Amino acid sequence: MSGGHTSSPSVIPRTLTWHGDATGSLRLLDQTLLPTECREIVCTTVEQVWEAIKKLRVRGAPAIGVAAAYGVVIGTRTTRDADRRAFDQRLQEVTDYLATSRPTAVNLFWALERLQQVAVAMPDALAAQVHDRLLAEARSIEAEDRAMCAAIGRHGAELLPDCCGVLTHCNAGGLATAGDGTALAVIFAAAAQGKSIQVYADETRPLLQGARLTAWELQQRNIPVTVICDSMAGWVMKERRVQAVIVGADRIAANGDTANKIGTYSVALLAKAHGIPFYVAAPSTTFDLSLASGDQIPIEERAADEITHSFGRQTAPTGVGVYNPAFDVTPAEYITALVTERGVIRPVTRERVWEMVGIASESS
Ligand code: MRU
Repeated sequence: MSGGHTSSPSVIPRTLTWHGDATGSLRLLDQTLLPTECREIVCTTVEQVWEAIKKLRVRGAPAIGVAAAYGVVIGTRTTRDADRRAFDQRLQEVTDYLATSRPTAVNLFWALERLQQVAVAMPDALAAQVHDRLLAEARSIEAEDRAMCAAIGRHGAELLPDCCGVLTHCNAGGLATAGDGTALAVIFAAAAQGKSIQVYADETRPLLQGARLTAWELQQRNIPVTVICDSMAGWVMKERRVQAVIVGADRIAANGDTANKIGTYSVALLAKAHGIPFYVAAPSTTFDLSLASGDQIPIEERAADEITHSFGRQTAPTGVGVYNPAFDVTPAEYITALVTERGVIRPVTRERVWEMVGIASESS
């Protein structure tokens, strides 16, 4: 079930926006239609939010977390005027349900847990009071994400030299967050400092987030961008067209191993072979310190037809076997630095990760 489409707006809409009070609605830019159509969907049921996440209408780890937080507000609305027991039970159902939408981006589970804790902290409040607080918390998550993107941009911009080619994979831009993105925020900040940056965007098979979304977003911001097929990355490095690689992340384990869009691991190996720095930009909400290493990160497998029916036509023989993992894990040893809103983690070791994101999150 998808939300109702609204007509084409004349200005670029935000990735997501909440409209109204706690009984309001969530508007999402439908990213499955980009780059040819710029349309929003309006979500008024939790099923619509779940579907939007599952189908990648809203995607990218931080944006999934923010959308899910608003999804909880939408889903618990039906028990706003009920007693607390019924409200709390509904809250549990809604968070359990949204948690089944996609498994890899930890921001989803982090946001759901944060909303659950709001209710736990208000045991004597009326359902409507808790519901209002859930909206306030979702709004905070959105605002914090925007601020984290800006800080990641500031820290990361220092890593990029002037007159530099930068390769990126998938989309870790404003479309993937509530703000300017993670990897792309670094590029935007470097460009704002006057640095000349030429981006190479891997098209990112099978769903083409690089070609459809990153290229579109960079064009909107007047950053020079060239789309390449994923298989061209090694040659582009060999030709010395890029001096850095920067990507986002869906989940980072305690040792720095990083899950990101399928193909990221290959790009990291290529960067290592060519002596090119490989950076990962992500907010602290993308770290999962409960996992000792990337081996424990759950990797989403998606439907075969994403591979067999690409580009609007059948692109593989009927009945052929398909393996479609949506993410891979890049071991920490291939990552030159992790750029977070708190600063740059370099070298990427368990100790440095803990110093930067562990201690503060323990006390928060
Ligand atoms: O399947 P997607 O499009 O949700 O995958 C997104 C990515 O892999 C991004 O690189 C990651 O979520 C970081 S977004 C700031």
